[in-house]
Amino acid sequence: MDKFLIQGGTQLRGKVRISGAKNAALPLLAATILAETPITITNVPNLKDVNTLVELIAGLGVTICYENGHLVKADTSTLDNQFAPYELVKTMRASILVLGPLLARYGTARVSLPGGCAIGSRPVDQHLKALEALGATIEVENGYVNAQVDGRLKGGEVIFDMVTVGGTENILMAAVLADGVTTIRNAAKEPEITDLAQMLVKMGAKIEGIDTDTLIVTGVDHLNGCEHAVVADRIETGSYLAAAAITGGCVKTTHTDPKLLEAVLEKFEEMGAEVTRGDDWIELDMQGKRPKAVSFRTLPHPEFPTDMQAQVMAVNTIAQGFATVSETIFENRFMHVPELSRMGANIQVEGNDAVVTGVDKLSAAPVMATDLRASFSLVLAALAAEGETLVDRIYHIDRGYEKIEEKLQGLGAQIKRVSE
Ligand code: EPZ
Repeated sequence: MDKFLIQGGTQLRGKVRISGAKNAALPLLAATILAETPITITNVPNLKDVNTLVELIAGLGVTICYENGHLVKADTSTLDNQFAPYELVKTMRASILVLGPLLARYGTARVSLPGGCAIGSRPVDQHLKALEALGATIEVENGYVNAQVDGRLKGGEVIFDMVTVGGTENILMAAVLADGVTTIRNAAKEPEITDLAQMLVKMGAKIEGIDTDTLIVTGVDHLNGCEHAVVADRIETGSYLAAAAITGGCVKTTHTDPKLLEAVLEKFEEMGAEVTRGDDWIELDMQGKRPKAVSFRTLPHPEFPTDMQAQVMAVNTIAQGFATVSETIFENRFMHVPELSRMGANIQVEGNDAVVTGVDKLSAAPVMATDLRASFSLVLAALAAEGETLVDRIYHIDRGYEKIEEKLQGLGAQIKRVSE
């Protein structure tokens, strides 16, 4: 099992190229199922999770290729089944996103329920309720969702009980081929949903209210292929800017967009960093200073994203003063806390709130990654800690960060992957 060996204490400096967003690439790939003619997706990140979904879509019979890890071409004319097996879905829960498109285009789907994961139970009740509102008959048995509809889905009214990114994506990909108009209320507004909606419109879909919490979709008879580039990864961007903040360095992220993560940039400025915004780049200069601790609460976009919670908490562990971090999206997203505490962090957790009191220095210790973003927070802590840290179970990190050690080495980090 691979591990990272990280020697802390270096101020990171330089440029890093941001990849396409994992959380946009996955729904975009699921949407290829809707295209009656060949479809091309560019700026795809080269990640394990993307590879898993490509494999699952190939298992449907789709002719799909994932060229050099950055380009996907799919031809659905060979699709011959609508079955997404547990073996694949259990390793990548976003596979549930094939449910909406399969049901919309073929009227049937048998998709394994995704398991939970470290950060929470991750139910999909909202996805199923929304599809039933469009006329689907859904049975859940033996760990599988069996969905059918006689003829086509019918446009209808969907109101989500809570903001759900995956739920919004699934129902959007179903509504585009339904008969009539669908109104989706309390829709998520994450940039990855905007990216999906923009590709669906290129394919011929009729969607109003993009970027708002109310989407109005007028169903069409069929959708065609197109060429679409995956939007930049706002979480990868924030993660590398956090590396500059925690080490007192200066990092410029390129091929990204400041508008995707304004709430995060404002927190970095509150920490005392100098943040410069370009059209497609962002530079964070900590000027060798110790950051000031900042409190924040995770909320749906455009507020502070839950996927940046662990990373900014890591910066708070060595900051001046204390701060409260509140996680309102997931019920168990503080798995990085005990590991950070092993490195000397002072964090008190009370339910979904964590009070972080900054310490002068963290110290190296063997730590274990538990989930994707928690893994990056441990890497951040190791970059700032005194001594050499061993981070175990880094397969979590390979799911969502492309070439992480190369990108960090390019910024001067002393990090290497060891296999034991
Ligand atoms: C997406 O997960 C992202 N994953 C997550 O990123 C991200 O943290 C999350 O959105 C929130 O922004 C992908 O896009 C592949 P939700 P998703 O449905 O869609 C509850 C990462 O690190 N809920 O918005 O699964 C749910 O339990 C990952 O890249 C229901 O109760 O998240 C959670 O508490 C982690 N019933 C809340 O809603 C449902 O049917 C938000 O979940 C659906 C969700």
